Amino acid sequence: VLEGFAPVRHAVPMLSIRTETDTGEGGAIAFDARVRRELDLAGDAPPVAYACELKFDGLAINLRYEHGVLVQAATRGDGETGEDVTQNIRTIGQIPLRLRGDPPPAVLEVRGEVYMRRDDFERLNERQRDKGGKTFVNPRNTAAGAVRQLDSRAMADKKLSFFAYGLGEVQGWPGAEPTTHTGVLDALAAWGLPVSADRRVVTGAAGLVAFNSAIEARRDALPFDIDGVVYKVDDLALQRQLGFKTREPRWAVAHKYPAQEQMTRLKGIEIQVGRTGKLTP
Ligand code: IVH
Repeated sequence: VLEGFAPVRHAVPMLSIRTETDTGEGGAIAFDARVRRELDLAGDAPPVAYACELKFDGLAINLRYEHGVLVQAATRGDGETGEDVTQNIRTIGQIPLRLRGDPPPAVLEVRGEVYMRRDDFERLNERQRDKGGKTFVNPRNTAAGAVRQLDSRAMADKKLSFFAYGLGEVQGWPGAEPTTHTGVLDALAAWGLPVSADRRVVTGAAGLVAFNSAIEARRDALPFDIDGVVYKVDDLALQRQLGFKTREPRWAVAHKYPAQEQMTRLKGIEIQVGRTGKLTP
């Protein structure tokens, strides 16, 4: 059991992405229009290629591999400094302790999301019910909570999963570096890192809208929770040209789905004496 998590200063800050406020197709159209304007593209210039991904609903993690060996895993924290959760992350079977295939870069930081599949969450809660223990509220909080427990025994009964979606610090990429985000994810997959198959390269606003509605239609059938999709300019040279605005890249956006609503029956309200001595529902 650890006394506390050691702070980890990220070599490359872990930034967040802007969320498009319009959850309808207007959000996708607005992002494409902004990218084109910021790249100074003429109206008749060819459509921009975008890498479209799922927005996984879990906990952002930075995995640091040195010469192909996992040496550290850290949470995002405030983006500059996170927490060293290596001990817990090492128990996630899907995360390779050693990369496979062609030699990887001397330093390779992989960024992605730790999450819990819905079936693993249901199984965990079934076991909790069987032993009369308390059930967990949702997969996201369960996954994030387990990773941030000082006692890694909290991880033992929880099967967590991981999807890689980007890079942090990289030193010494072997051979020619990929020129697209898609090429980066393909390389990570070849080294044995889990990368979602639900990713597509599309062109222009129409491609973003089509990806968004195709995923929204399948949202409930996915084996894990998502809270939207993410669009990224695929060409890394264009990403560099677009750069960052304060703490957010101009080349990516999160396009969230409206919150899921369900009918429920209120069965009763219990009144009790609260912490302050007052009666609280
Ligand atoms: S890219 C600089 N891609 O959403 C861009 N983030 O603010 C870095 N997330 O908490 C993020 N799925 O952990 C990216 N396919 C995806 C993602 C994703 C989930 C999370 C991320 C962060 C938030 C973005």
